[in-house]
Amino acid sequence: MIGSDRMAFTVAIDGPAAAGKGTISRAVSAHFGLAHLDTGLLYRAVGRKALRGGDPVAAAQALAPEDLQGDLRTAEIAQAASRVAAIPQVRQALVEFQRQFARRDGGAVLDGRDIGTVICPEAEAKLFVTASVEVRAERRFLELVAKDPSVSRESVLADVVARDTRDAERDTAPMAAAADAVVLDTSEMSIDAAVAAAVELVERRMR
Ligand code: CDP
Repeated sequence: MIGSDRMAFTVAIDGPAAAGKGTISRAVSAHFGLAHLDTGLLYRAVGRKALRGGDPVAAAQALAPEDLQGDLRTAEIAQAASRVAAIPQVRQALVEFQRQFARRDGGAVLDGRDIGTVICPEAEAKLFVTASVEVRAERRFLELVAKDPSVSRESVLADVVARDTRDAERDTAPMAAAADAVVLDTSEMSIDAAVAAAVELVERRMR
């Protein structure tokens, strides 16, 4: 067992907005007893500080656990996250923490945009989770409207498209599938089926 012999074992899960990375990462982490880091939360925390008038680079350099508290999963913070995530010094400030986490004893699952390409190219298992933009926007709409009934489908779709474009086209660590990543298109998959496919991949890599 990976967890008991305390070796590093990294599962990198990348993909566009609202593709189901979080759900799959949490399930893989629980199944194998691996620590989980949602790296999007780091960029969201920096984005929230920028929205409040802070300097994004200074915010990233001084990021502390308490910055992750409260609701970071709003549409406004998502957009701010994607804007600060395009700043090279912001990304640089967050690299070392993510790398340490990825190679910790006992193994780890990290989800984000550049885990398999930049943060941990040596990851033992790499997944690129995707789905059609319509399916992703609908999933995110259902999450957001539960918290705020005034949210519209159109605005969520526009947000997802804007963020994907910015994330894929930035110069530093753009969102991309690593050459050795397994691509999982969840457009027509249930959560259970997507999780089962991810667990199977990780199991194969552990052998
Ligand atoms: O949950 P969702 O897929 O909508 O987004 P997220 O994973 O929380 O990421 C929010 C934003 O942070 C993304 O749109 C990216 O701009 C940025 N991000 C990044 O650049 N690199 C990462 N490893 C993770 C997130």
